[in-house]
Amino acid sequence: MVMSDAERQVRFWNRFARRYAKSPVTDQAAYERTLAATRRWLVPEARVFEFGCGTGTTAIRLAPHAGSILAADTAPAIIEIASERAREAGVENVSFLVGGPDAFDRANPPGIVLAFNVIHLVIGWREALLELGRDLPPGTLFISKTACLTGERALIRLGIPLAVKLRIAPPVNIFSEADLVAEIEKAGFEILEREHHGTTGRDVRPFIVARKRG
Ligand SMILES: C[S@@+](CC[C@H](N)C(=O)[O-])C[C@H]1O[C@@H](n2cnc3c(N)ncnc32)[C@H](O)[C@@H]1O
Repeated sequence: MVMSDAERQVRFWNRFARRYAKSPVTDQAAYERTLAATRRWLVPEARVFEFGCGTGTTAIRLAPHAGSILAADTAPAIIEIASERAREAGVENVSFLVGGPDAFDRANPPGIVLAFNVIHLVIGWREALLELGRDLPPGTLFISKTACLTGERALIRLGIPLAVKLRIAPPVNIFSEADLVAEIEKAGFEILEREHHGTTGRDVRPFIVARKRG
């Protein structure tokens, strides 16, 4: 049976989950800058939805600065680890569920949506952004950090399809930063901030804060 890219994505992260959970953050200083930049937009009563939450590190770190965080990831094995970590950390205002960018309650939408290191992995990412734009009310903040792999070194960029084929990397979308910005705007968001937090040379992961237009 032929597996879809979305199924392959889930299978990769399910298999990789325990190893991924043990892998260190590649640029800790950049990560701290991203957390600080995100915290600037949070208020104590903020209702946050994060998709592609991974093993929950960001949700757990941001929990003291928000009212509640609903964090989703399409890989059940990843969500299992995130839930364990939140329990161990004693965090009570974060809940996890298996799901994608659309896993929030339409009747009670979040005020802030977070997407860190995931848009390049979302199969059908352009449609997913358009859907978010359609479903989120005006004023909703969309904060993301995304690998824009067109800007990567040729060796890495050209090696990606091979790594995907060999199943040592998940299926990825390769697009430029300009393309990502254009798609976020097309989905109905206004860009408020665009920064690079990397501290170790070339940084192809723009941190973008956008707000749904009225
Ligand atoms: C590189 S990890 C990033 C995790 C975390 N956000 C971080 O910054 O450390 C990507 C995560 O996105 C998840 N993912 C991939 N496609 C997704 C989708 N369409 N919706 C939600 N999560 C997805 C994967 O299962 C994986 O846990």
